[in-house]
Amino acid sequence: MSATGPVLQVTGLQVSYGPVHRSTDAVRGLDFELYAGEVLAVVGESGSGKSQTALALLGLLGPGARRRGRMLLEGKSLDELDEAGWTRVRGRRIGLVSQDPGQALNPYLSIGKQMLEMLRWHQGLGGVKAREQAESMLRAVGLTDAPSVLGKYPHELSGGMQQRAVMALALLGEPVVLVADEPTTALDVTTQSQVLALIASLARQSGTAVLLITHDLAVVRGVADRVLVMYGGRVLEQGRTDELFAAAGHPYTAGLIACAPGLTSTPGSLLPSLQGQAPGAGDWPQGCPFHPRCPRRLEKCATSMPVLEQISTTHWRACFNPGSDL
Ligand SMILES: Nc1ncnc2c1ncn2[C@@H]1O[C@H](COP(=O)(O)OP(=O)(O)OP(=O)(O)O)[C@@H](O)[C@H]1O
Ligand code: SF4
Ligand SMILES: [Mg+2]
Repeated sequence: MSATGPVLQVTGLQVSYGPVHRSTDAVRGLDFELYAGEVLAVVGESGSGKSQTALALLGLLGPGARRRGRMLLEGKSLDELDEAGWTRVRGRRIGLVSQDPGQALNPYLSIGKQMLEMLRWHQGLGGVKAREQAESMLRAVGLTDAPSVLGKYPHELSGGMQQRAVMALALLGEPVVLVADEPTTALDVTTQSQVLALIASLARQSGTAVLLITHDLAVVRGVADRVLVMYGGRVLEQGRTDELFAAAGHPYTAGLIACAPGLTSTPGSLLPSLQGQAPGAGDWPQGCPFHPRCPRRLEKCATSMPVLEQISTTHWRACFNPGSDL
C-alpha cells in the first residue's frame, strides 16, 4: 500500500430500498480503501451487494435507492454531488467497464468518433493530436490495427474487441479509479484472461486504481493485489491476495475457494464446501449473515454480527470461530 494514502475511501456505505421502517438493505455498512495502481477484487456470491457498491461509487443508483456513509475520492467528498457533479466525476475521475460492452458503446457512432468525442469532452483535444492519442490507446489495449478499428462500428467488432474498445474509452478519461463490474463475463475464456491481464497491467502503468468485481477466484488469484470478500451486503474478510489464498481466515472465503474449480488454499487441506444458496437483500438473517450455511457456527452467530478484526497488518476478518484449520 502506498505511503501517499488511499485515492478512494469508503466508510459505512449503506444502500437501501423501500420504506424506511421496512427497508431492503443491499449494502450494510461497507468500509474499504483503494490505492493508486492496485487492483482490489470484490468477490462474493450473487446478491452480496457488489454491483450496488459499484453503482453507488458512480452515482448511478436507481431513483428508489437511499445511500448513507462517506465516499472520498482523493480526499474530496462525493456524498453531496448533484447530477451535474456526477457527470463531471463519471468517466473523467471514476471510469466504468461493465459486463456488456454492447451497452457501453453507441451503436450509431464509429469507435473513432466515440473516442474523439471523449477526448474533446474530457481533455479539450481535437484534430491530429486527438487521433494520435486514440490510436495509441487502442494499441495499448491490444487492438494493434488501430486505424482500421477507429473506422469501425461496434457491431463490426467481436465481443473481445468491443470490450477492449470500452476499456480504451474508459482509460482515455484518465480516471483515478476504474470500476470493472464482471468485465469479462460475456467473453470466451481465452479472451477473458487477456482482457483481465490488460486491466491489471494498464492500472499499474497509469496508476489508476481498479475495483474489479468478479465471481471468478482464478481471475482474482491471477490479477488482484488485494481481495474484499462480501456477503449479505457486508465485508466478511479483506486481505492481500497471496495471504487469503494461502490461509483463508473466514469460513465463507474458505468455502468459496473450495468451490472454485482447480483452487484450494493449501494443497491437500480439507476445506468446507459451500452448502445452499445466499439469500437476497431483505432476507438476510440476524447475526452473522452466513450463519445458516456455516459449518463452524456457534450459538451467538445467530444473534450477533462479528466486527471486522485486524489479524495482521494487511488482513481483516469478521468471524467468531474461524478455526486454525482454515
Ligand atoms: N431496486 C432494487 N430494489 C430492491 N433491492 C434491490 C434493488 N436493486 C438491487 N437490489 C438487491 O440488492 C442486492 C444486491 O444486489 P447486487 O446487484 O449488488 O448483487 P451482486 O453482488 O452484484 O450480485 P451478482 O453477482 O448477481 O451480480 C440483491 O439482493 C438485489 O436483489
Ligand atoms: S461468525 Fe459464526 S457463522 Fe459467521 S462465519 Fe464465523 S463461525 Fe460462521
Ligand atoms: Mg452484480
